[in-house]
Amino acid sequence: MKTVQASAPGKLMLFGEHAVVYGHPCIVTAVDQRVYVTVQKSENATFSVDAPDLKVESYVKPLNILGTGDIPKSVVFLERCYVRFLEKYPQTGGIQVSTKSDFSAKFGFGSSSAVTVAFAKALSTLYGIPLENKQLFALCYQAVLDVQGVGSGFDIASAIWGGTIYYVKPAKIVEILTEKPLPLVVGYTGIKADTATIVKQVEMKKNADEEHVENIFQDIEKLVDIARKEIEQERWDIVGTLMNENEELLEKLGVNTPELDLMIHSARKHAALGAKLSGAGGGDCMIALTQSNTKKKVDDALMQTCAGTIPITTSAPGVRLEKEVELRT
Ligand code: MEV
Repeated sequence: MKTVQASAPGKLMLFGEHAVVYGHPCIVTAVDQRVYVTVQKSENATFSVDAPDLKVESYVKPLNILGTGDIPKSVVFLERCYVRFLEKYPQTGGIQVSTKSDFSAKFGFGSSSAVTVAFAKALSTLYGIPLENKQLFALCYQAVLDVQGVGSGFDIASAIWGGTIYYVKPAKIVEILTEKPLPLVVGYTGIKADTATIVKQVEMKKNADEEHVENIFQDIEKLVDIARKEIEQERWDIVGTLMNENEELLEKLGVNTPELDLMIHSARKHAALGAKLSGAGGGDCMIALTQSNTKKKVDDALMQTCAGTIPITTSAPGVRLEKEVELRT
């Protein structure tokens, strides 16, 4: 009996959130906190999951009703991914899945996309179906859209390719800008944001005033395109200024919160080169760009606000196979 384990990283949006949903580019970095998924074939015709980090123990679903009924939130990405996988690559017999995460789902680091990507990689290895990054992306994006209905797929691309990437949906452009860590500090507001709800709020705003919101997206795109070059050149002072400008445009979209604002201003006051919210807004995390000699000062200041900082390293490696073991039965 073969056991396969794969892992994928979480992510942080650096530039271009919301605009990316409408076909504009964004820049995202993978973080060194990972989700691990282990799979093993089973003789029973069932899909079973153990995910103690998600408080799921012994979830079992007969394969003939896979993907139907009320699926708990904690396993829905895995189950939809397995449905999509079997549609494309039919198999006989069932599967046992277990997951483990380095980070909490509440940070907005993209645990759903990371778990989906790690699972898809583990499945393709277990069944001996090698998938290119683009094929892995198509499978995972489909599964995530089945669950969420919305999303640009930037988080899936980040979990697959890793590093810091320039992305246009749906993986139409994926360009690695750097694989070196960026001088970032991450502050956590302590508030869990609901990405799908905020994406819908922006959509409503866009429907109400198409031209105004499209102009904001165009301005974001200009920033992203400049940031792409400045990140490659490691001109952090310019990247910091661009972050501040991106934040202003996000404020115009109305996705800021008082907690994010407090942390962003505190970081800037304590010598950050730039600071902005990261992701949908409405809570979750903010990021501050620093110089190596001011990183501690910014970190200390943010530790005093909201829920403090989360130590991470950016530009982490993308999805990878961790273990492939043949067990004697
Ligand atoms: C959420 O982290 C980022 C958004 O751009 C949504 C998406 O791209 O799927 C708001």
